[in-house]
Amino acid sequence: MKNNYVPYNPSVEVPIEDEQHVIDEIIASMTRLNGRTREKFGHNVRVSHAKSHGLAVGELTVMDSLPEHLAQGLFAEPATYPIIVRLANVPGEIIPDAVNTQRGFSFKILNVNGQMIAGYEGGHTQDFVLDTGKSFPTPDAKAFLMQHKMVIEHAPQFPTIVKEVVSTVARVTNEALNVVGADSAKLDFFGDSRIHPLAEAYYSQAPLRYGKYIAKLAVVPVSATQITLAKAGEKVDSYGDVNALRTATVNYLRENDAEFEIRIQLCTDLEKMPVEDANKEWDEEESPYLPVARIRLPKQEAYSEARQQYIEALSFSVAHCLEDHRPLGSIMRARLQAYPEMARVRRQGNGQQSTEPTSVEQVPA
Ligand code: HEM
Repeated sequence: MKNNYVPYNPSVEVPIEDEQHVIDEIIASMTRLNGRTREKFGHNVRVSHAKSHGLAVGELTVMDSLPEHLAQGLFAEPATYPIIVRLANVPGEIIPDAVNTQRGFSFKILNVNGQMIAGYEGGHTQDFVLDTGKSFPTPDAKAFLMQHKMVIEHAPQFPTIVKEVVSTVARVTNEALNVVGADSAKLDFFGDSRIHPLAEAYYSQAPLRYGKYIAKLAVVPVSATQITLAKAGEKVDSYGDVNALRTATVNYLRENDAEFEIRIQLCTDLEKMPVEDANKEWDEEESPYLPVARIRLPKQEAYSEARQQYIEALSFSVAHCLEDHRPLGSIMRARLQAYPEMARVRRQGNGQQSTEPTSVEQVPA
């Protein structure tokens, strides 16, 4: 039977005008930010998602008997892979968790088989780098650059206390918008309601190649304990504990396993589900997110100084990928260049070597 999934073809990507110049400017803006935070912290931190609040190891199992449209790329055959997960939040500096922004969930799938994307010579890991929120605040690299420059130019003038107030106001406004059914990816970016990090769903926001097709990807919590946490609607209280998100993550994983489904939303219509506009949420009535794999993070100590040092030297990058999962669209093409370059700058400044892990045994307890 014929399906209506849009086939992947390189022509689905259409670069914006002067795109390479825009990407060079993004990297220059991020390098300026890095110089500033280096002065502040005495070493390089990530220019985005600098603060980690959970570092976990686990495994990913591809589901049996997936239909052809879901059995693509890494998910073509049932298999189990070791994974490394880093939970973090957006700012490119280490700040108290009361300054509340989107949260990130990055994971590294070790020892994958298949053709890696051209230019990735570092190893055989497939990384997915996700955030809360179903779409990205800006449609393309040019709009991202404008936003980045604005934040970089103005942010240092705000002391942390002001940032906390701005964040709280944005969060309240966002909650008010959600009550009346409106949503705003932009407001989400600056202020998000503080759901427990292990009870959140995380999204690729921008599309990627899914073997023969095109898709967005999500990681959704599914264990009964996580679902209860999500339903309880309890917010992590970040006043009085500057590392509240880390405390919540570590306490949970000390007592419980965490389980997630990886779900895929296939593109069925390039007009309604554009590749080049990362701000456009794809309609789930048109094409729902469907499960293809499960992630299991067994009980563990999800933060230690040794683990932090090891994982901080890694790079979770959209450029670490199989050709079958090539990131797509303007935002993704910018990321393909920005992650390797900024990871290189960060590690060089910190005197760290770049090696991709081949076993979770390499991750310190
Ligand atoms: C033009 C858009 C974007 C650019 C230029 C960008 C750039 C970067 C850079 C340079 C880093 C730090 C890399 C390192 O030092 O190793 C980073 C980290 C990160 N970004 Fe982005 N990003 C963009 C969009 C996004 C989007 C759409 C998401 C999620 C949907 C995202 C999620 C993350 C996460 C979770 C991390 C932390 C990665 C880690 O744990 O190592 N970013 N980003």
